[in-house]
Amino acid sequence: MTVVGIHDLSIATASRFLDLALLAERAGIDPDKYRIGLGQDQMSVPAPDEDIVTMAAAAAMPIVERHGASGIRTVLFATESGVDQSKSAAVFVHELLGLDPATRVVELKQACYSATAALQFALGIVARQPEESVLVIAADVARYAVDTAAEPTQGAGAVAMLVTQDPAIAEVEPATGIHTADVDDFWRPNDSDTAVVNGKLSIDAYLDAFVGAWDDYRARGGAAIESIDYFCHHQPFTRMAVKAHQRLAVHTGAALTPAQMESTTRYNRRLGNSYTASLYFALAALLDGEDDLTDRRVGMYSYGSGSIGEFFSLRIRPGYRTALRTEATKRILDSREPLDVDAYRALHAAHSASSEVDREIAPTSPAPFHFIGVQGRARRYARTDA
Ligand code: CAA
Repeated sequence: MTVVGIHDLSIATASRFLDLALLAERAGIDPDKYRIGLGQDQMSVPAPDEDIVTMAAAAAMPIVERHGASGIRTVLFATESGVDQSKSAAVFVHELLGLDPATRVVELKQACYSATAALQFALGIVARQPEESVLVIAADVARYAVDTAAEPTQGAGAVAMLVTQDPAIAEVEPATGIHTADVDDFWRPNDSDTAVVNGKLSIDAYLDAFVGAWDDYRARGGAAIESIDYFCHHQPFTRMAVKAHQRLAVHTGAALTPAQMESTTRYNRRLGNSYTASLYFALAALLDGEDDLTDRRVGMYSYGSGSIGEFFSLRIRPGYRTALRTEATKRILDSREPLDVDAYRALHAAHSASSEVDREIAPTSPAPFHFIGVQGRARRYARTDA
C-alpha cells in the first residue's frame, strides 16, 4: 500500500507579540493565572498589513522554494477567520506564490478543526493520484473582545504542510475516530469581528468530543493506547492540552505521563491560539523538541467548536530530522517585536473587516507578503521581496 503523509511542514506568525504578564498587570490579575492557569506566556498580534493570507503565503513559501511548485495540483486552505465570504483565501496565496493556473484551490471551514479535514482530503487525493502533491495550509487570527476572560487566549499563526506519497516526516495512519455534536460553545456570527464564546461549555464540549472520537478511533481499528508514544492535542491555550491528556488517562485507565505531551506546548505558549493551525504547531514543537522520534507513533486530537473532534495517528519516518525547519521556526518566533498593552489595544481597535471605503495600508511588517488595502470592495495583496 502507498504510504502517504506529511512531507514538509513550515510555519509563520504575526510580526508582533504581547507578553501576557503585561496584560495581567493592566487587568490587575495575578500573572500566574495566565502563565500557569492557562499555560500561556505571550500572544502573537498581527500588524495592519498582516492577516491569514500573508501568514499563509509566508508559511508556504519555503515549501515551494524547497520542492518547486510543479507537483502541487491542489491547495486546501483551512481557516475560521476568512477574509471573504465567497472567494477562497487560497486564491490569494496561489497568486502570491506564483503557482500554476492548473491548480485546484479551495477554503475549508469548521472552527479549529478544518485543517484536519483538509489533511484527510489531501491524503485521499494523493492516494488516488500518487504523482500529485497537495499543499495544506492552516492559518488563523484568534480575536476576542477586550476585557473578557477570553482576551488572553488570542493569537495568530499559520502552518503549511506538503502532503505526498512516501513522505519525509510522517505517515498518517488510516484509522481515524470522529465525534460530531451540535453545541453552541464558540462561534463567530457573520456580522461580528470577534468570536462569541461560552468558555466553560467549550472546555466540556472539547473533552466530550475527545472521548467520543477516541472511542470511535478504537472501534475502527485504531492503535491501543499503550502503543501511542506521544500526543498532540488541540491547544486553544496549552493547559487545555493537559486537561485533555488527563481525561484520556482517566477514560482509558492508562498511565499516561506528562512527558508524552509536554514538548508539544512550546510554540503555542508563545503564539497563543492559532485555531486551525494550533494542532500542527503542537506537532512542529514535538518534532523540533524531541531528540529522536523515528518510528514513534503520535496521537493527534483535533477539535473544532460547534463541534467536531477527530483522533488519528502519525508514524514518524526514519530520517525525518533532515526535513525539519527548527532554526527557521526559532528565528521567526524570536524576531517578533514586543508590544505594550496600549499598542496592542490600538491594533485591536483599528482592525476592520469593512470593505465599504477604499483604503491603502502601508506594507510595514518585515514579512514578504502584505495586505495593502481595499479597492472597489476587493482586498489587495502584494509581495515586496519579488
Ligand atoms: N495561579 C495559577 N492558576 C490560576 C490562578 C493563579 N493565580 N488563578 C486562576 N488560575 C487557574 C484556575 O484555577 C483555572 O484552572 P483550572 O481550569 O485548572 O481550574 C484557570 O486558571 C483558568 O481560570 P478560570 O477557570 O477562572 O477561567 P477564566 O474565567 O479566566 O476563563 C477560559 C478561562 C474559559 C479558557 C477563557 O479564557 C475562554 O473563554 N477562552 C476562550 C475559549 C477557549 O479557549 N475554549 C477552549 C475549548 S474550545 C476550543 O478548543 C476551540 C478553540 O480553539 C476556541
